[in-house]
Amino acid sequence: MYRNEYCGNLSKKDMDREVILAGWVMRRRDHGGVIFVDLRDRTGYAQIVFNPEYSSEAHQSAEKLHNEYVITVRGRVIDRKENINPKISTGEIEVMAASMEILSVSENPPFQLDGFTGVNEELRLRYRYLDLRQADVLQNIVRRHELAQAAREFLNGEGFLEIETPILNKSTPEGARDFLVPCRLQPGTFYALPQSPQIFKQILMVAGMDRYYQIVKCFRDEDLRADRQPEFTQIDIEMSFIHQDDIICAVEGLIAHAIGKVYGKKIPTPFPRLGYTEAMARFGTDKPDTRFGLELVEITDIGKASSFKVFQSLAESGGIIKGFNARGGAKFSRKDIEEEFTKYAAVFGAKGLAWMKVSEAGLESNIVKFFSGEQQAELISRMNAVPGDLLLFVADTPRITNDALANLRVKLGQRLGMIDPERMNLLWVVDFPLFEYNQDEKRWDSVHHPFTAPKAEDIPFLDSDLGRVRSDSYDVILNGVELGGGSIRIHDSGLQAKIFALMGITPQDAENKFGFLLEALRFGAPPHGGLAIGFDRLVMLLQGCSSLREVIAFPKTQKGSCPMSEAPSAVTDAQLKELYLRTIAPQS
Ligand code: AMO
Ligand code: AMP
Repeated sequence: MYRNEYCGNLSKKDMDREVILAGWVMRRRDHGGVIFVDLRDRTGYAQIVFNPEYSSEAHQSAEKLHNEYVITVRGRVIDRKENINPKISTGEIEVMAASMEILSVSENPPFQLDGFTGVNEELRLRYRYLDLRQADVLQNIVRRHELAQAAREFLNGEGFLEIETPILNKSTPEGARDFLVPCRLQPGTFYALPQSPQIFKQILMVAGMDRYYQIVKCFRDEDLRADRQPEFTQIDIEMSFIHQDDIICAVEGLIAHAIGKVYGKKIPTPFPRLGYTEAMARFGTDKPDTRFGLELVEITDIGKASSFKVFQSLAESGGIIKGFNARGGAKFSRKDIEEEFTKYAAVFGAKGLAWMKVSEAGLESNIVKFFSGEQQAELISRMNAVPGDLLLFVADTPRITNDALANLRVKLGQRLGMIDPERMNLLWVVDFPLFEYNQDEKRWDSVHHPFTAPKAEDIPFLDSDLGRVRSDSYDVILNGVELGGGSIRIHDSGLQAKIFALMGITPQDAENKFGFLLEALRFGAPPHGGLAIGFDRLVMLLQGCSSLREVIAFPKTQKGSCPMSEAPSAVTDAQLKELYLRTIAPQS
């Protein structure tokens, strides 16, 4: 027998028990004759004592041990007495070894395990099997498992069917680039890996499945960031004969159940809802972090009336001027403002950052002279400013102004210590526009995806004012991160064809790309809708991690590669030949 107990489960209740443990040598300390080994398995670790007076044979074997050797140990649980370690769950006991067998040896690990601060991430990922042995990383994987099980438990209880959809697909239009897979059996053709199971889950509704879910891998060939992986997991759901509120309610139940079950935290429902227009006005973004204030205020009218040229001319050319009151921010130096904050705003396209400090005497800054006494009083009142505050403004196109201020707001929230990391602010952003104008391509694109239903009352505007049409779509936001999104779908093939036409997709194109969906919609489609939660993001936020890579067993780096397996890699000519493919060297 290799073991009859896990290391991390031992406690005082096991006193005097004979146990057999198996695991990895985490540390070995030789205290002049007596050897101590911390033995690690998935549950934690326990201290093993090799005392030559108790078993000279076991002690002799222990002299050969090094870190990460795999051993099995038989011994007796004893009291640590005065040497209690209150930091670990097994800290009151230790195991006096009677015998030990080395099951496997290990090369010297390339980095120090258990306390990897400062270890290069690339190195951790190259040796991910070592990295995963560490308590923090392991914990993320265990919680991920528990959250997935809790989600399944909730959805099963609500009558959802878990149904798999194909991975080798025709491409689905979620807005990213597809990963393509050549098809050997039909030379010159390709499958696309699913960006999401969107079309299939809608077809499952047409097929009468009523309620579907899947915890599913999705693939998007896009530029990667801390919260974006090329393959990621969604909790994907779809329901029939429902309205927006039914899905919102189901998703609130799902999230509250999972967090309650795994973290023992009570999440109040319903979550607050914010209209898209209001979110943009108050926070400059459709995924606001509402754990702190610093809300945006528009001052285009004051800027226009001032004699500050930058503000005047921007306001006159259709730009907007907004700002926020960084409460207590007057303590920041000019260097903080003009270098750090201004440079940060510039990352998002802002051509400058205007600032005013508020003192007992009023407003102070390089540009206050351009504002009359009355205008200054109006600024103070509109920004709700008191002495000690710092006012920051950006003037630009609505897109740049909002984007720069939304990001700066978070930065100042952090710098001013206003963000409570323990808080979980969940909210819905609803009533998105159906389309957004793509300036580069000179066409209207879907904000969510082309299967999203317009709001019934806005359908007349499809013929007159596309920018005004809102959709039945909704995003769920957690602490400023888009956790999930979904919509009510179009279940009428005529309306669906019209939406494609408005987007400049010809009937021929629509037929080629989604003919099978349009056809299905002609055979009795129920009203339906759904949503997908970014599962990796959910785990990342709940575990307090700053990157998805911390919560995925085998993640990809920023360059889309796996340092362990070295994917992606070149393939042999023979493999290419079989697929009727030839590669072309990139032009440098
Ligand atoms: P959407 O494209 O909004 O909707 O995706 C849903 C959620 O998936 C997560 N997500 C990602 N997570 C990690 N890496 C990525 N590259 C990535 N891309 C998206 C986000 C996002 O909110 N089919 C629709 C859903 C629906 O309409 O039902 C869809 O995929 O958390
Ligand atoms: P300047 O007129 O370039 O000397 O700028 C005076 C102040 O206005 C500086 O603090 C700039 O950062 C700020 N500023 C310049 N352009 C903008 C802009 N588009 N929005 C906000 N502030 C700006």
